[in-house]
Amino acid sequence: MFKNKIAVVTGAGGTLCSEIAIRLAEEGSTVVLVGRTAEKLEKVAGRIGANAIVYPCDVADEKAVEALAERVAALGGCDYLINGAGGNDRRAMPTVTQYTPDLPEGELGLYDIDMEAFEQVLRINTMGTVYPTLAFTKQMIQKGGGSIINFASMNTYCPLTRCFSYAMSKAAVANLTQSLAAYFAPANIRVNAIAPGFMVNERSKNYLGTVEEGLTKRGEQVIGHTPMGRFGQAGDLIGCVKWLLNDEAAGFVTGITVPVDGGFLTLGGV
Ligand SMILES: NC(=O)c1ccc[n+]([C@@H]2O[C@H](COP(=O)([O-])OP(=O)(O)OC[C@H]3O[C@@H](n4cnc5c(N)ncnc54)[C@H](OP(=O)(O)O)[C@@H]3O)[C@@H](O)[C@H]2O)c1
Repeated sequence: MFKNKIAVVTGAGGTLCSEIAIRLAEEGSTVVLVGRTAEKLEKVAGRIGANAIVYPCDVADEKAVEALAERVAALGGCDYLINGAGGNDRRAMPTVTQYTPDLPEGELGLYDIDMEAFEQVLRINTMGTVYPTLAFTKQMIQKGGGSIINFASMNTYCPLTRCFSYAMSKAAVANLTQSLAAYFAPANIRVNAIAPGFMVNERSKNYLGTVEEGLTKRGEQVIGHTPMGRFGQAGDLIGCVKWLLNDEAAGFVTGITVPVDGGFLTLGGV
């Protein structure tokens, strides 16, 4: 299924999409690793070997993505697109969870946050999904079809406190996934999204802690709300990725967002 296919993986230097790229390469795909920082991508390429190609690119920059697409066209064109690049920015977040008329010194309310960072978060998570999709669907059309996976979040369904721009952008990703699925269905291109639950990555240890070594207050809230009682690992996403990309197994599946969350969405939190 994945043999001799070309998979473009954005955010491939990061925790979740590096694992996805490695596992698709193991299945025989050529993986194009995309992110802004070449060193992170080179590291992942080193773990993959000959099936990996490193193309640094800012996915929120339309012109840069068009240039990236030209390079991928020269390889034979994209079959699978994983739109994994994205994330939040602390500077776009207040430090308090609710409005208070007496904001303690040193704390930031919603009026105090960095609006450039706020817009940048929106831009990376939304336009950083739109531009690669526009560029690579043209190649998929030429090849007779393809499959795209976008990255949503638990914030897609109900925002976490303080995550204003991130939550807004990840809600948009699920909505965009539906519009794209409807639009590209006649071109035999399926577009779906995965909404990871709380996954371990480099930063999660700082704000959530670990089940083994102790949780932060927010970590306790998350685990208390996750029936499976643990954080996710990048490997937990692989079955879903392979299913959604597979035209036989998921050939009639398009426009959905699949939570992979240890049951986080099953509870109301009370
Ligand atoms: N980890 C979780 O718990 C979780 C939960 C729900 C959703 N998600 C989503 O899943 C995706 C992957 O998350 P992750 O945990 O693997 O995050 P991560 O480790 O921070 O990886 C994200 C990668 O995206 C790249 N990136 C960011 N902005 C970019 C841009 N403008 N152009 C190109 N690359 C860009 C970053 O590399 P550079 O900075 O070098 O560009 C980074 O390597 C993200 O969309 C995230 O929002 C994660």
